[in-house]
Amino acid sequence: MAAEGRLIVVSNRIPTEATPSGGLVVALHQALTGRGGVWIGSSGELAEAPGPLRRIASGAYERFAFDLTEAEHEGFYLGYANSVLWPLFHRRADLIDVQEAERQVYLDVNDRVAELIAGILEPGDMVWIHDYHFLPLGQALRRRGVGNRLGFFLHIPFPAPSDAPALPDRRVLPEWLAGYDLIGLQASRDVRNCIDLYGKEPTAEIGSNGRLRFGDRRLEVGAFPIGIDVDAIRDAAEATEPGALMLAPGTRLALGVDRLDYSKGLPQRFDAFGKYLGAREPGELRTTLLQIAPPSREDVEAYKDIRHQLESMAGSVNGEHAALDWTPIRYIRRQLPRDVLAGLYRRADLCLVTPLADGMNLVAKEYVAAQDGADPGVLILSHFAGAAEQLDGAVMVNPYDTERMAKAIRDGLAMSLGDRQARYLSMMQTLRETDIYWWTDTFLDRLARRPLVRVA
Ligand code: G6P
Repeated sequence: MAAEGRLIVVSNRIPTEATPSGGLVVALHQALTGRGGVWIGSSGELAEAPGPLRRIASGAYERFAFDLTEAEHEGFYLGYANSVLWPLFHRRADLIDVQEAERQVYLDVNDRVAELIAGILEPGDMVWIHDYHFLPLGQALRRRGVGNRLGFFLHIPFPAPSDAPALPDRRVLPEWLAGYDLIGLQASRDVRNCIDLYGKEPTAEIGSNGRLRFGDRRLEVGAFPIGIDVDAIRDAAEATEPGALMLAPGTRLALGVDRLDYSKGLPQRFDAFGKYLGAREPGELRTTLLQIAPPSREDVEAYKDIRHQLESMAGSVNGEHAALDWTPIRYIRRQLPRDVLAGLYRRADLCLVTPLADGMNLVAKEYVAAQDGADPGVLILSHFAGAAEQLDGAVMVNPYDTERMAKAIRDGLAMSLGDRQARYLSMMQTLRETDIYWWTDTFLDRLARRPLVRVA
């Protein structure tokens, strides 16, 4: 069933370049280019006072941005979104920094954005809201009498019901989400957590196939694992030499690509790699771990230590194992261009995707798509990444068990060509069946089928 009106996409970040690169923004760009519509997000610039939506691009679809004030950036983005919701949803309740004033700013920003959206909405428009920055946005739109179909997609894990009490008010989450008609989550474990959370609400009725009633609202919850543009990654990987890596001949390459975040399990990864090096047989080929980890959210307290911790761990592993012509851990704290990254994926014998908690992890998927089918590399994947539900050809690890992770690195590097190819083919089939176009189409078709809300 096709949507009658425009597609309105809302995400905290919005691309500023004409043709965006990178998983999610490419998909949304593509969906909007095909259907027309509007993309709304924060400009990334700070303003003196809250302002209106500004049109920042138009063409096949329009982009509108709003500026946050400094106080909004602190309370909404650095504060409640990234100091409460992010750690809570990533099972790090110990890192939560609850400030009542920041929760209020988070709600106020959602209210303000709802007002901006309501100002441009037309009947029949379908709204697709993304991620934890905007959990209460649907509810704020409903308060304004908006009866349009509202969909929400959470890119990060859904918290276990036992973690939800760490929110200042446990009931807010089911109430916020009830503003939407369709809630998309990455994995079936997330759907279970979400349904279980509603199951604890006396006024909720849980139906079949993810359908539920909460008060006077009917909604649907489903798993829509986000995919990638397989051919675009493969083509970029084929076309791009990663540049001079300065690896001595015969040196194997293990790769890690992550935002610098405590949820990514980077200290455990460095520890496991050190253990792998320590257990090598004399004469075994050398391996370098190239870790790319651009920093993020540096003004959030919980992010301040991880950088120093990694530098010190890399220093100690290198001090113990390095040779004149070999640096075991190379750590790049910079974002690399996407085509260079694609070339690196293809060159790497092994990719380490070992988060402690992760909604999906698109690096895992991109790494597989970038491989040469004649000689594919090996994906080492944490059970705690959403991708683990789909990528059965990966070598699965528990990131907390660094000794077994060390063994998985060793086994991965020694894996036979036949085994690597069989795993690669099975994962490629999944990547193609559930690619990024499948993701947008499936979600939007399901949203278009939801009954319209009657507004009094
Ligand atoms: C995760 C979130 C996104 C976020 C991205 C980068 O992938 O799910 O919503 O945009 O991290 O984080 P940042 O805080 O730099 O936008």
